Amino acid sequence: MNIVMIGTGYVGLTTGLGFAGLGNRVACVDTDTAKIAKLDLGHAPFYEPGLEEQLEALQENGQIVFTTDLSSVIGSAQVLMIAVQTPPQSNGQADLSHLETAAEQIGNLLEHEALIVVKSTVPVGTNRRVLQIIQSSLSKRGREDLVSLIKIASVPEFLREGSALQDFLAPDRIVIGADDEVSFRTIEQMHEGIKSIFLRTSIESAEFIKVASNAFLATKISFINEIANVVEGTGADVREIAHGIGLDKRIGPLFLRAGIGFGGSCFPIVVSALKSYAGINGYDFRLLNAVIEVNNRQRELFFKKIVSVLGVLKNRKIGVWGLSFKPDTDDIRESAAIDIVQRLVGAGVEVTVFDPKAMGTAASVLPSSVAFSTTPIDAASGAEALLVLTEWPEFRGVSFETLKSSMIEPIIFDGRNALADLNLERLGFRYIGVGL
Ligand SMILES: NC(=O)c1ccc[n+]([C@@H]2O[C@H](COP(=O)([O-])OP(=O)(O)OC[C@H]3O[C@@H](n4cnc5c(N)ncnc54)[C@H](O)[C@@H]3O)[C@@H](O)[C@H]2O)c1
Repeated sequence: MNIVMIGTGYVGLTTGLGFAGLGNRVACVDTDTAKIAKLDLGHAPFYEPGLEEQLEALQENGQIVFTTDLSSVIGSAQVLMIAVQTPPQSNGQADLSHLETAAEQIGNLLEHEALIVVKSTVPVGTNRRVLQIIQSSLSKRGREDLVSLIKIASVPEFLREGSALQDFLAPDRIVIGADDEVSFRTIEQMHEGIKSIFLRTSIESAEFIKVASNAFLATKISFINEIANVVEGTGADVREIAHGIGLDKRIGPLFLRAGIGFGGSCFPIVVSALKSYAGINGYDFRLLNAVIEVNNRQRELFFKKIVSVLGVLKNRKIGVWGLSFKPDTDDIRESAAIDIVQRLVGAGVEVTVFDPKAMGTAASVLPSSVAFSTTPIDAASGAEALLVLTEWPEFRGVSFETLKSSMIEPIIFDGRNALADLNLERLGFRYIGVGL
């Protein structure tokens, strides 16, 4: 099948490669010329495990191409997928302007029957709005004949950055929201080769399934963080509690890791957009208010913990491990780690950071006073405390003897409990986690 993917970011590129790997011909379009130039040369514009290898293989056999010019590839498209960003606005609602622009571009160029598939995460009603924009552009061009031939479907994306390529091939389910049998079948055909549950729903239900899934996972995280705050100092350990409750099949073990809270491009926007959507429709979604509040408070509580141990922070030296919002990605959008580094700098701390992949992306948002180091040990060298803000597995492999001797004070504040089982007190560290 011929697929055009509009938006070649974390979702568009990884799923574009996934569809190409299944034997479809994929043209990825993006307005970012630097990104497309990089991709044309076979380089991934962001870090995702396995991405460059997959890119090289599929580019070589012509299964995937990259362009900034939608008009050059739209002619052969049976399916046009839209995976542009829908970032939060200051009022909490999703900014749909990129999606609307993409819809207008499609409507201005399309000359044949096609199925439009929205992959971006959007509030309910958006897919139908996208269809209207396309239809109205077609009408303006005098192509009324095409208006009823354009179909829309919602196929929300559930991949996790850091394991996006595997997630594409082995999703828990593929949700397809459409109006007609042909659209359902076309989308199922595009996924041929993937064994999963294909769930057919209305377009509106598909939009809601994505948003409600993310909101539920965010709620689990805020729940375990509340438990962590309550148990601290009681002799209980939130990791044991999470394990114990996670063994209950009705609860499940995932997304029960206590720490400094969730970030990324999905959870924060989805939670605030759903709350705001409910509000516009006259419903006060109280649970989500609490999920957001608890998430923000986790960072504050962690920061207060640092102050309570170190006292005045001005001119103190602190090392930081981890900047990305989670391991195995260089994505720093809404990252709790970035927020905490900014708070430290605001308090006059001399901060040195290390992250295995996200230092490039972080450099553009962190204050210029932040120093970047090339190894975890260097980041902590001469520091009065070390903060672990992202649970990169490689941090566990560091020589903690060397670390201890390079720090002025061997104090570790672990915002992810990533080193909690290493028994670092035994080596002379003062170790402070979350809910331990
Ligand atoms: N990142 C994730 O883990 C994830 C997971 C599931 C769903 N989502 C959702 O998927 C959507 C995309 O997220 P992302 O993280 O890939 O965003 P991203 O910012 O990484 O990528 C979006 C890309 O779209 C391009 N773009 C914008 N307007 C365009 C246009 N008119 N024509 C062509 N290209 C255009 C941008 O230049 C950018 O490269 C969002 O709605 C997001 O909420 C993201």
